[in-house]
Amino acid sequence: MTPDQPPICDYEGSDYQTSFWDEGDRAYEDQVEAIALRRLLPKSGNMMLEVGAGAGRNTPRYQAFQRVVLLDYSTTQLQQAQSKLGNDDRYVYVAADAYQLPFVPGVFDGATMIRTLHHMAEPQRALQQVRLALQPGAAFILEYANKQNLKAILRYVFQMQSWSPFTPEAVEFAALNFDFHPKSIRGWLQEVGFSVERQLTVSHFRMGILKRLFPLDLLVKLDSLAQLSGNWWQLSPSVFVLSQAAGDTPIASPGALFRCLVCGNDELEQLPSSLHCPNCDHHWSFENGIYDFRVK
Ligand SMILES: C[S@@+](CC[C@H](N)C(=O)[O-])C[C@H]1O[C@@H](n2cnc3c(N)ncnc32)[C@H](O)[C@@H]1O
Repeated sequence: MTPDQPPICDYEGSDYQTSFWDEGDRAYEDQVEAIALRRLLPKSGNMMLEVGAGAGRNTPRYQAFQRVVLLDYSTTQLQQAQSKLGNDDRYVYVAADAYQLPFVPGVFDGATMIRTLHHMAEPQRALQQVRLALQPGAAFILEYANKQNLKAILRYVFQMQSWSPFTPEAVEFAALNFDFHPKSIRGWLQEVGFSVERQLTVSHFRMGILKRLFPLDLLVKLDSLAQLSGNWWQLSPSVFVLSQAAGDTPIASPGALFRCLVCGNDELEQLPSSLHCPNCDHHWSFENGIYDFRVK
């Protein structure tokens, strides 16, 4: 990490996919997220950037895109994604920091960032990086953890929690885990060059007792309906925002993808085990199908 880089929530070696999703009774959360994505994803596209892809839980949902770049700071998460998705030229695996993306500006016509912004101490900075990587008009689907959720409001009203769910600052409820205010998120998106198109509120019934009392299908159907109120109010723990990259920013030349993070050169040579920058002579490792652009 370079001195001015914000801290990273490191998932290296984590069993997140197994413990949280596969064995964590999270079928409801997974299914309602799939519905939100189906509603917001474009019908077709060329190059999709998935920021914080983890073990590739959502990647198969991006079939409409010809290629998907899975970016994550953790190489072990990317290895799990490789095992899940198999050897397929559609997928490019990149270990990099969301605060420092190694792409030529204007390469992607779509991007997602699901369950990842909540690890960002400097969210505007990460959003700015995503915007730079996108072409004008590109779709960006952002999921964030909402501090103004109904449970937090009730806890605040009944004095069971000290922080206010209504104020704009983020709340760090555990180390490097942040809940954000919807208005702050919309403001940051606009500041970095997005126009907000649509909001869906997601996971309204994310409570152990409700999951035990009611059938999964019923909760999913009710959530699917409730999602549609997302443009009017946001009181759910998770919010999906569809934005469009605004402004007259560059579009990358066909075939371009990576740029050197040391000198900015965007003509890197593919060697068997690295991408070589002929300008500054830096080698970015390429091992077992994973490009490694982490700056340590
Ligand atoms: C909670 S997991 C979500 C994974 C996936 N998006 C999903 O919904 O299943 C968060 C992911 O963000 C990644 N991450 C956290 N901070 C990051 C950063 N600064 N740059 C890149 N990835 C990061 C972690 O390695 C982890 O895989």
